[in-house]
Amino acid sequence: MLPYKALLRPLLFSLPSERAHRLGELVLQRRFLWKLLEPYYRTTDPGLKTSLAGIELSNPVGVAAGCDKNCQFLPSLLSLGFGYVVGGTVTLEPRQGNPSPRLVRNPREKSLVNSLGFPGIGAEAVLRNLERSPVRPLILSVAGLTLEEFVECFRRMEPRADGVELNISSPNTAGLRIFHEPETFRTLLEQVNAERKKPLFVKIPPYGNEEGQQKVLELVRTARQMGVDGITAANTRPVQEPRLRIGSGGLSGKPLFQDTVRIVADVRKEVGDRIAVNACGGISNPEEALQALAHGADTVQLYTGLIYEGPGVARSISRGLSRYLKDHDLASIKELQRT
Ligand SMILES: Cc1cc2nc3c(=O)[nH]c(=O)nc-3n(C[C@H](O)[C@H](O)[C@H](O)COP(=O)(O)O)c2cc1C
Repeated sequence: MLPYKALLRPLLFSLPSERAHRLGELVLQRRFLWKLLEPYYRTTDPGLKTSLAGIELSNPVGVAAGCDKNCQFLPSLLSLGFGYVVGGTVTLEPRQGNPSPRLVRNPREKSLVNSLGFPGIGAEAVLRNLERSPVRPLILSVAGLTLEEFVECFRRMEPRADGVELNISSPNTAGLRIFHEPETFRTLLEQVNAERKKPLFVKIPPYGNEEGQQKVLELVRTARQMGVDGITAANTRPVQEPRLRIGSGGLSGKPLFQDTVRIVADVRKEVGDRIAVNACGGISNPEEALQALAHGADTVQLYTGLIYEGPGVARSISRGLSRYLKDHDLASIKELQRT
């Protein structure tokens, strides 16, 4: 509907990345506009309905964490046809994040590298935003740099969400890596379990070699033993990037896709069919979504694909999935996952 690739994207890409990003956010905050466009973007195929750890979804395409860190335009994202939104990552206190430049594009390979480091307005201000514009289905991504901070953030945010995703995997926030230690991770889950009432997800880091695989799958095993309801696989890949002020950041977009499929398959093998898996990393079209679902994902999440493909990306994926169901005589997305 909107001439995104021909007109809006070149305009946005002529600006420095973070400025373009802020402009995009301002446009998405025009709630009435997206509500008006909703009938065009939203898919109503009942075959796409599914559930994620008991959360009912109209389709399996979600917005990944980081797109709306402060929960300022989540209803607009649902109007674009997403089946659910992940708001945040929210931290307990407001944070500046890392110094700029902290977001760069690689248009040829349709990727981004960011070193944002959790800039955000903090839990209380996010809760006020959610009170002003409630949204469902909503998963809130939370994090903290200490155990106490992480658990307290979880405690404050969970009542407002349908489920919570623990972000232990952003590569740009050094303190977060303490939760990759099996014992610290277990303690985090013990303390969260003592409080929680809703589905709990853990977002894992990606890996590219056997050593990384073993470490991450050990976290997945612990998560399963501790009763976590789902794994989101995965976050951005740590890379060196001299254009960023801090010299390194997290890679997102197309180059992640093959790893995403492999990691989803590994995680599915590890957890069996008792817990949910969300595929995240480089997904931006129906073929990629289908591949992720076929390798064991229950849903797909995306962020960079929204920037490169524009506001029609969820619609185009949902339509492609509907077409596939019809062509293969499948009644629902659950059936597709069983084939
Ligand atoms: C600018 C930017 C900010 C992000 N912020 C977060 C975040 O706050 N929390 C999080 O769990 N992931 C964050 N991510 C990672 C995404 O949620 C996702 O895991 C990653 O980008 C791979 O998916 P994609 O290729 O579809 O973007 C961020 C990604 C980008 C590009």
